[in-house]
Amino acid sequence: MARKSNQKPTDCIHAGKSRLPPSLGVNTPVVTSSAFDYRADHVRYPRYHNTLNHEVVAARVAALESGEAGLVTASGMGAISAVFLGLMKPGDHAILLDGIYGGTIDLVTGLLEPMGMRFSTWDGVPDSLPGLIGEKTRLVHVESPTNPLMDVVDLRAVARIAQAHELISVVDNTFATPLLQRPLEMGFDLVVHSGTKYLAGHSDLLCGAIVGSTKLIARLRPTVIRLGASLNGRELSLLERSIATLAVRVERQSANAGVLAKRLCEHGAVEAVYYPGLADHPNHDLAKAQMSDFGAMLSFRLSKAVDPDGFLDRLNLVRPAVSLGGVESTICQPSRTSHAKVEAATRNRLGIDDRLMRLSVGIEAVDDLWRDLDQALTPA
Ligand SMILES: Cc1ncc(COP(=O)(O)O)c(C=O)c1O
Repeated sequence: MARKSNQKPTDCIHAGKSRLPPSLGVNTPVVTSSAFDYRADHVRYPRYHNTLNHEVVAARVAALESGEAGLVTASGMGAISAVFLGLMKPGDHAILLDGIYGGTIDLVTGLLEPMGMRFSTWDGVPDSLPGLIGEKTRLVHVESPTNPLMDVVDLRAVARIAQAHELISVVDNTFATPLLQRPLEMGFDLVVHSGTKYLAGHSDLLCGAIVGSTKLIARLRPTVIRLGASLNGRELSLLERSIATLAVRVERQSANAGVLAKRLCEHGAVEAVYYPGLADHPNHDLAKAQMSDFGAMLSFRLSKAVDPDGFLDRLNLVRPAVSLGGVESTICQPSRTSHAKVEAATRNRLGIDDRLMRLSVGIEAVDDLWRDLDQALTPA
């Protein structure tokens, strides 16, 4: 049963937890075993995603996304590849939103297309989506907001069109988190996450998740098992602990990001700021309608006068680093990190160049963050 949105911070702490014997206290014990008596009930094995720690965390992520069931995977790409490989076969066709995470594009061009699956790129305009759908189209995959340009796609419209054409709709909800956006409530079939980012939240875990209906998750389970994209009990336990603070982290991070986005807009060394919370973002109203806050990711383009390497070198607090979503603020050039493997022509078309900076805003005091960015933008 879908729980009310305002219960999500409670779900971060309690959902999925089984009642334990009093002697074990309030925390889920870490089950380290990889060998279980197969005669007990069913065959338990960590790669089958059915140990205690997996079941607790999967149920928690499912509750947060308002889904019936979930699977926790060894990385975000483990989740995304399982979805494509589990739901498509050679000859099938899928539609991908333009301008999404580079690793997903690399999966498609490096593995799925050579296997005989076919893909079309969609520009994000709802009216142009039906024209891309053919007899062999099986699914549509989107991200919102996108990595790194923070485009926002109309999730309700995508879900409606997918339903009308009997396609499976998949959304990568990594940037928004289920605290700010719940695509399943808007009609999507599946949500995937790079749990490495906000769910884990401390830049010390690699993990992913898939959430959807019991039926779809059951369909994907054999693929996830075959791919071996599973986590052990210790990592799942760390993930459980991290999710407990997801709501407070995301609230603080989003508030900080809103302040920094506005200040960056007014800075002479910044040519453009990409953040859906800004009133002049092309999809600000849409973001307002489908998100409860605008998230903690923003991108900005340095003006031509600022040397990108010098800017990064001058930062003291904000750490240049790949990945995102941690409690500490980090910054990177997608051209050299998340989108390095994407063809140069595609990067140029999207505007992903060395002057584009993607900032993952942490929970530090916002004025400290601003002082650091400001001094790095305006060298003495
Ligand atoms: C939006 C998005 N989806 C998926 C991934 C892949 O996640 P992972 O690195 O955990 O495999 C990333 C990684 O940066 C991402 O930013």
